[in-house]
Amino acid sequence: MTTQSIHKLSEDFFQDPHAVYREMRERGPVHHVEFPSGMRAWLVTEYDLAKRVFTDPSLSKRLYGEPGAVAQTNGNTVLRLDPPVNDHMLYRDPPHHTRLRRIAMKALSGAVVRDFTPRIEQIADDLLDAQPGPGTVDLLKTYAYPFSGSTICELIGIDAADRTEFQGWLTTQISTAEAPEKHAAAAAFEAYVHRLFEEREEKAADDLISELMAPGDDGERLDRRELVSMINAILLGSLGTVAGLVGNTVLTLVTQPRLLAELRRDPGLVPAFIEEVLRYESAGNIASPRFTTEPVRLGGHTVGSGEIVLVAAAAVNRDPHHFEQPHAMDMSRPENRHLAFGYGIHRCPGAALARTEARIAVTRLLARHPDLSLAVDPGDLRWQPSLIARTLVALPIRLG
Ligand code: HEM
Repeated sequence: MTTQSIHKLSEDFFQDPHAVYREMRERGPVHHVEFPSGMRAWLVTEYDLAKRVFTDPSLSKRLYGEPGAVAQTNGNTVLRLDPPVNDHMLYRDPPHHTRLRRIAMKALSGAVVRDFTPRIEQIADDLLDAQPGPGTVDLLKTYAYPFSGSTICELIGIDAADRTEFQGWLTTQISTAEAPEKHAAAAAFEAYVHRLFEEREEKAADDLISELMAPGDDGERLDRRELVSMINAILLGSLGTVAGLVGNTVLTLVTQPRLLAELRRDPGLVPAFIEEVLRYESAGNIASPRFTTEPVRLGGHTVGSGEIVLVAAAAVNRDPHHFEQPHAMDMSRPENRHLAFGYGIHRCPGAALARTEARIAVTRLLARHPDLSLAVDPGDLRWQPSLIARTLVALPIRLG
């Protein structure tokens, strides 16, 4: 049934996916690919088909249920981290997904983000105060990661003293560490979060944990297993993505000085600028997997049951049939309907928080260091070899 020959992607793909996508898009809207990890999938590179895949109810997201298990036995190895901490809304179908999502949307609503904005500004300012003098810094390490880490940990309700260890458990889980180390990190995370539940049961606090533990409007509550995985989803969904977006935004500014000059002249342009970076070089490369549970027609191909379907967000956001001059940054695009946050029922519930964080991080950085510049040749920058993240390994910046 899988009639298309397999396109093997090499490690070079991670350094310049746009070149690979450009060539793929010319050949068709969907491609049978094998990633360097050995995972095989159908990769969608066209905007309209991506929207269909994001909304097609016949494609399942159940990684920890039968659809995900069948895909594994077909040799389509997907990274499956330890459940229960990782068996969360991103890997669920309705109706379970609908219930979890309603709760997440409320906990991350625009009003919650607005109320939290002064704290986000303070976190950015404190980190800028702590930058080591004028000179060169790895801005991802000294600013973007601690900024997104502190913001989400504080919103959730993790004590400042515990944050380094806490974030360590998360990053170990998604790292290339050996399985026993990952299991230990997942178990430590779970035990820590359970302790927080017990504390909040005694006395609720003004934080996201207490909000998630409270009964919803219909009186329904999340059980402990759902709570642990919800917190994990929110943390994993936000830590690297927001830091990556801040990094890519700064990279775009320092490599396109005309844009830097425009933002310096008018900081009010920052939100439109970030929106365009989300399209042009978002922190996400490929969205999470979907599984076929029956043969489906996709972009002229018949894809068999038990296969993985992926949307290359970085490719569809540069689809020339949808965006004029897709490879250029243009803050004044009239309709910037990019798919960086996905589309349909799994669309990112953290989009409002991500946009606010990026706006604050960039505005505060530019106010403090208007003359910042790239400290290395752009050709020397390296990207993480990740399917999900489009994030630099390091971003050496001269703060000026
Ligand atoms: C620049 C930052 C971000 C980007 C580019 C991003 C991207 C995405 C995308 C593409 C999806 C949909 C995945 C799919 O359908 O396969 C998603 C889902 C999700 N994101 Fe984000 N995200 C960002 C920030 C955040 C933040 C700040 C949070 C939490 C505070 C968050 C939490 C989640 C969760 C929980 C889901 C699963 C939603 C569901 O399954 O219904 N994300 N994100």
